[in-house]
Amino acid sequence: MGLTKETVEIVKATAKPVAENAEAITTRMYEILFENHPETRALFNDAPSDQHKKLAAAVGAYAANIENLDVLGDALEKMAQTHVRTGVKPEHYPMVGVSLLAAVKEVLGDAATDEVLAAWKEAYFFLGDLLIAREKELYAAA
Ligand code: HEM
Repeated sequence: MGLTKETVEIVKATAKPVAENAEAITTRMYEILFENHPETRALFNDAPSDQHKKLAAAVGAYAANIENLDVLGDALEKMAQTHVRTGVKPEHYPMVGVSLLAAVKEVLGDAATDEVLAAWKEAYFFLGDLLIAREKELYAAA
């Protein structure tokens, strides 16, 4: 089970503009997320750095390597551990996903066609499902 070839191609093709605008996209993502789901603000209280600002770029970078999950392993494990430490739960994923896609649409404008947004949605939730599954194991072991 993986992403469709078409999705991987579209995500790869648009990873550059997304990465180049990652700062603007994530700034808008947080605004939208905190406005619609203020309860998620507390999760970021102890955020030590601007690491999470790279979420949009991370989704693109990891999606581009999605055919080679071995490469992703260490990065995913680190994300899952950080998420568990900060109390991220499965129900937060759609909140972030919807906010991220809205921000991509706003910032990329005409370049964010329905096709592009659908591909990024698939990539986001593919990664999200991998993280949720690993985080479930970590929560159960804690
Ligand atoms: C596919 C979805 C997601 C990806 C790719 C992603 C990516 C990341 C990355 C790369 C980090 C830094 C990890 C580290 O180096 O320690 C991180 C940290 C974090 N993530 Fe996520 N994340 C996702 C979903 C979420 C969701 C749904 C939430 C909940 C609101 C969330 C909240 C956080 C928090 C609170 C941190 C730690 C604080 C910080 O450094 O800002 N993430 N995430």
